[in-house]
Amino acid sequence: MRKPFIAGNWKMNLASKAAAELAGRLLAKVSDFEGIEVAVAPTATSLAAVIEVLRGSPIEVAAQNCYWEESGAFTGELSTEMIKEIGCSHVIIGHSERRQFFAETDETVNKKLQAAYRAGLMPIVCIGESLGHRESGRTMEVVAGQLKGALKDISVEQMQQLTVAYEPIWAIGTGKTATPDQAQEVHAFLRGQLMEMFGQNVADVVRIQYGGSVKPSNAKELMDKPDIDGALVGGASLKADDFIGILGYRN
Ligand code: 13P
Repeated sequence: MRKPFIAGNWKMNLASKAAAELAGRLLAKVSDFEGIEVAVAPTATSLAAVIEVLRGSPIEVAAQNCYWEESGAFTGELSTEMIKEIGCSHVIIGHSERRQFFAETDETVNKKLQAAYRAGLMPIVCIGESLGHRESGRTMEVVAGQLKGALKDISVEQMQQLTVAYEPIWAIGTGKTATPDQAQEVHAFLRGQLMEMFGQNVADVVRIQYGGSVKPSNAKELMDKPDIDGALVGGASLKADDFIGILGYRN
């Protein structure tokens, strides 16, 4: 009942020309992936070029970050209104790299989430434990805390538009993917948390993406798990063939 949702997070890669080229290669194949929602998240300066290429196509465009104020003296930041106006449908919020390198907290994630809804953007909220958390048996406690902190004061109606991305930090960019069973265990737990917080309907409709070294060779076994509804793909989304391979996981 949940439509699979696969997004490529291009991180700080691909300036406008290369980003537009990659978008064009995906566009050429998109009709092969009917029934799957597809998005790409270029770096901010490449958004305009990618949106131009994908205009009118089913491939959606996400920003990788936003700020929560509408305007003002916040040098270097982008408001959600600016992101919406340029043509993005989604915004990624709270990626672990932002938490690690740019001091994001559950509280700032929540503020950004509120700002995304204000502008009519659909949020992809990232959570995930570190290796230390996992090895000390704290995974569920950590992800539950991140989920509760991020989703504070969010309504049942707003939740319909939201995607959760579970990205264990130890699996990001390391080539070390969580096993399908490890990922499924956390996804099922998170869905249970959504059920407790928002009720059955929200738990049934909210998609939970897995992120962390997703590649064409492991996408199917991950996506086959009942509570894994999509993927947030980093490195493998930078190469057209790899990302197309992931989008074609059912073939
Ligand atoms: P990798 O796919 O490169 O591990 O990155 C995952 C990620 O952080 C997506 O947001």
